Amino acid sequence: MKDRFKILVSTEEIQQKNIDLANQIVRDFGTEPFLLLSILTGSFIFSADLCRAIVTAGGDPIIAFLSASSYGSQTTSSGNVSLTIFKELSLSSKRVLLVDDILDTGYTLSHIKNYVLAHSASFCKTAVLLDKPSRRKVSFSADYCGFTIDDHFVVGYGLDLNDQFRSLPYVAIIQDT
Ligand code: IMP
Ligand code: MG
Repeated sequence: MKDRFKILVSTEEIQQKNIDLANQIVRDFGTEPFLLLSILTGSFIFSADLCRAIVTAGGDPIIAFLSASSYGSQTTSSGNVSLTIFKELSLSSKRVLLVDDILDTGYTLSHIKNYVLAHSASFCKTAVLLDKPSRRKVSFSADYCGFTIDDHFVVGYGLDLNDQFRSLPYVAIIQDT
């Protein structure tokens, strides 16, 4: 199975990066509780590892989820982002850390950050495992970024192609597509 994939970011690199990011986040958010808002589905593994690294670093994240989808082709976003909120999500006066798998065109995170701020969060920071700055369609940068990558479509560690490959323990490029 490994032959199908060219590993771009290894399991060990991701683990170390989660520790680094968690330390930066705790430096900024301190030890008081804050809302870690994980954007499903792609960020479920990153969020799970990052929130535990944050606790190890001394932080106190309260976890909540929302789901974002945008209609477009298989591998790119249309900019038409729709959100699903799973339960009463009180954002008023909350300090929010939005967590996503990858920052690509920027449509998803900029839309959700606007939503969070429009619902009276006291502030909103963003964390992404991966960033593809060359693909940006709207001006947006993440406050915490794991790895900047070139314009490849990647899978693994939560990222999918048609719901496949999310469970790979590394980030990879598919060799045969
Ligand atoms: P954006 O709205 O274009 O920034 O895209 C964000 C979403 O597109 C991510 O949360 C992913 O779900 C998806 N996406 C963007 N690039 C990739 C990729 O290389 N592999 C898998 N999903 C991707
Ligand atoms: Mg996603």
